Amino acid sequence: MDCSPFVIGVAGGTASGKTTLSTKLKQAIADDAIILSHDFYYRANSEIPFEQRIKLNYDHPNAFDTDLLVEDVKKLKSGRAIDRPVYSFVTYTRTGETVHVEPTRVIIVEGILIFENKDLLDLMDIKVFVDTDADIRLLRRLTRDVKERGRSLDSFIAQYINTVKPMHEQFVEPSKKNADIIIPQGGENPVALHMLIDHIKALIR
Ligand code: ADP
Ligand code: C5P
Repeated sequence: MDCSPFVIGVAGGTASGKTTLSTKLKQAIADDAIILSHDFYYRANSEIPFEQRIKLNYDHPNAFDTDLLVEDVKKLKSGRAIDRPVYSFVTYTRTGETVHVEPTRVIIVEGILIFENKDLLDLMDIKVFVDTDADIRLLRRLTRDVKERGRSLDSFIAQYINTVKPMHEQFVEPSKKNADIIIPQGGENPVALHMLIDHIKALIR
């Protein structure tokens, strides 16, 4: 019997509800499930001054150290613990701290671009894309970025127009074709959520 951890991929545009869905899956499937966010693996860019760091494109695949995420998922799948990085959206760099993560039966990997990378896709047992209208995502993100990520309205608008929207259209939206299942209204779709939970429970039983 294959006892290696079951890996669930949750992708979708910014503020689509990936974290909300991942948390609900964890609660329903396995309380000790690990949620590994691609965001933890943003490059530190610590050699670049803050004034320039804030202007970088954070929606292109090269913004992430995906090789490290792939390595960490492989380690967890083979029963080894990891020390994952911690990223700050306020300082736009890694904090220097790490979080020790022990392997468990279920790993949820979530992020805007996780279905764009072949090595990462190959590690997933089920791939879920959270599909939420762009205007809803825009409003949710605006609220979140101003309240939680310390952003001004002007910087939000500039980033959204210059990088978030074009990169979504170039990379995120096309990666939807790699999903096994597409969920409309992500975190608030009880029918889809229950079907998904039942299916995953049957697979890992
Ligand atoms: P993602 O991980 O895709 O960026 P989140 O799950 O963190 O998305 O949701 C982004 C923001 O939208 C959060 O502030 C969250 O509370 C809010 N949110 C998520 N789902 C809903 C919903 N169905 N209705 C209203 N707000 C929501
Ligand atoms: O949680 P969510 O999926 O929205 O996180 C991804 C988003 O975080 C990207 O769209 C990117 O623009 C944003 N980001 C940012 N500042 C950083 C790193 C990422 O605004 N320093």
